[in-house]
Amino acid sequence: MSNFLNSIKARRTIYAIGKNVSVDQAIIEETIREAVKQSPSSFNSQTSRVVTLFGESHTNFWNIVRETLRKIVPAEAFEGTNAKIDSFSAGFGTALFYEDQDVVKALQEQFALYADNFPVWSEHSTAIAQFATWTALSEIGIGASLQHYNPIVDAEVAETFGIPSNWKLRAQLVFGSIEAPAGEKTYMDDAARFKTFN
Ligand SMILES: Cc1cc2nc3c(=O)[nH]c(=O)nc-3n(C[C@H](O)[C@H](O)[C@H](O)COP(=O)(O)O)c2cc1C
Repeated sequence: MSNFLNSIKARRTIYAIGKNVSVDQAIIEETIREAVKQSPSSFNSQTSRVVTLFGESHTNFWNIVRETLRKIVPAEAFEGTNAKIDSFSAGFGTALFYEDQDVVKALQEQFALYADNFPVWSEHSTAIAQFATWTALSEIGIGASLQHYNPIVDAEVAETFGIPSNWKLRAQLVFGSIEAPAGEKTYMDDAARFKTFN
């Protein structure tokens, strides 16, 4: 199997994450930056933006999620929610994936023929960047899971971290040391999924 296929096979959703990371923070930052920079985007528009939170900022982010959910989740169900947020907060950092809507709008105006496609391609681009980052972090021994607390936390997160209003939050990749392996993964039948014609 190619190195790349081995890497994408090794990437998994890791929920049991911690702060026992042996890789330097600078290496993690560089890994995230390169993974996003080298990811393709439609017309090379480079719409993806990433805010990486470590230390207190990472904790603050998960506290914003916690307090937002406290207002929404029924009191009797909140204990489970709180434990889940604790498990994310226990990680080493969080990468917030944004898409720059100003760039999307400018492309829609510039290439009217493809106007409907640019928001879709922007979603494709962030997904590719998220997957590349997730896999690259896995390669350096960092476990992660992909979360989606947008849009309920967007406004407070933007205010707290000074995020431009044209950046739209799409996903949160929370990462840290791997404290327990991923669960078993099952696969549907290839026959129901792939077709080949000669
Ligand atoms: C587009 C997308 C959205 C996802 N959203 C979440 C999420 O909100 N919360 C979560 O815990 N996992 C989320 N996941 C993780 C999937 O549940 C996980 O990738 C899938 O079960 C396969 O497991 P694996 O990542 O270990 O290969 C998401 C994955 C993808 C690709």
